[in-house]
Amino acid sequence: MELLGSGIFNADGDNWTLQRKTAVHEFSVKKLREHATAVFQEQVGALVRQVDHAAMQGTVLDLQDVLMSFTLESICHVGFGVRLVALTSPDGYTEASDFAKAFNLANQVVAERFLTPVVWKPQDLLSRFMTMRDGNGALLSDAYLRDVVINFINAGRDTSAGAITWMIYELTRNCHVEERILEEVMVVLELGQGEGERLAEQLSFGKVRKLNYLQAALSETLRLHPSVPQDRKTAVDSDVLPDGTQISRGSLVVWTAYTMGRQESIWGPDALEFRPERWLAPNGDYKAESSYKFTAFQGGPRMCIGKDLAFLEMKAAAAALIYNYRFEVVPGHHVKYEIALTMPIKHGLLVNVSRRWS
Ligand code: HEM
Repeated sequence: MELLGSGIFNADGDNWTLQRKTAVHEFSVKKLREHATAVFQEQVGALVRQVDHAAMQGTVLDLQDVLMSFTLESICHVGFGVRLVALTSPDGYTEASDFAKAFNLANQVVAERFLTPVVWKPQDLLSRFMTMRDGNGALLSDAYLRDVVINFINAGRDTSAGAITWMIYELTRNCHVEERILEEVMVVLELGQGEGERLAEQLSFGKVRKLNYLQAALSETLRLHPSVPQDRKTAVDSDVLPDGTQISRGSLVVWTAYTMGRQESIWGPDALEFRPERWLAPNGDYKAESSYKFTAFQGGPRMCIGKDLAFLEMKAAAAALIYNYRFEVVPGHHVKYEIALTMPIKHGLLVNVSRRWS
């Protein structure tokens, strides 16, 4: 937790309020529509190039690793206006899961922003923090900015990469869901067969939003494989939970999204089935659940600030992967959880990949 410093995850009180208020602007619908969509269109292009290389060479691909690079690149580009080009470096960003590397990276991001002459208008998260002043009227320190960066990298990279990876894994076991997503992508993005080169430009904010079934499949993935499987809070006051449990002030309250997502008492007798349809209204629209029932993004004032951004990013990447490729888990590769703060697949998701349309 020390690595997170004074960033938003560790912060409470005034420091948290300042960071939450500052960040909230960058996650508004307007910002997502104007800024993030263009970034994801570009990053999806790089992702496809990387996957295509494996498809053409016939080499085994660790999809989780590639997606970690994609989400890292995306968060640095959207949030801090920095392109890392991790996806195109010769050996890939192989240490994407090493947290200490992220710490060094955060230092570099901040340094680069100070060294590179930029047009100083607050157009991304880091610019906004860089123009702010503390209680004494001084600009925020480098160390503080580094903590901001590292917290957002930490929040936005493994979580979304994990969810896309687990969904692709679920699709390898649920072909009918994959077919339905493909059909929806082709209709909504107005793509015929083998029109992959037009896909990125079709990923407009409005169209990606209309991918209801894909959103349902991602939600279903996060229900069964929540990126933050367990969370905890300290009670600031005594309280009584809805089931009558007494909580005294200062108690540590732990809950597991993983267990809640699989409980029949919450989701019904088919709780263990991967069934995206449970997220659809009768007219096919996406039906959101209460954040206290579906706790993958937490609920209340500390709820995930990047949820809409994450869905935009995950849907854009998943649409491109599913439209262009077929994936098969390498025979004999055992898919199991890695016990960590987030819940990646241990040893990655090793897949054989082939082009869908040739
Ligand atoms: C599938 C993707 C994601 C999931 C499942 C997820 C889940 C969560 C959860 C459970 C929390 C609460 C953690 C806690 O307080 O203990 C959280 C907080 C947060 N998330 Fe996400 N997240 C995702 C993507 C993102 C993205 C892409 C960003 C943007 C960079 C982001 C930014 C944040 C921030 C800044 C907080 C701290 C909010 C606060 O303390 O006020 N998240 N997220």
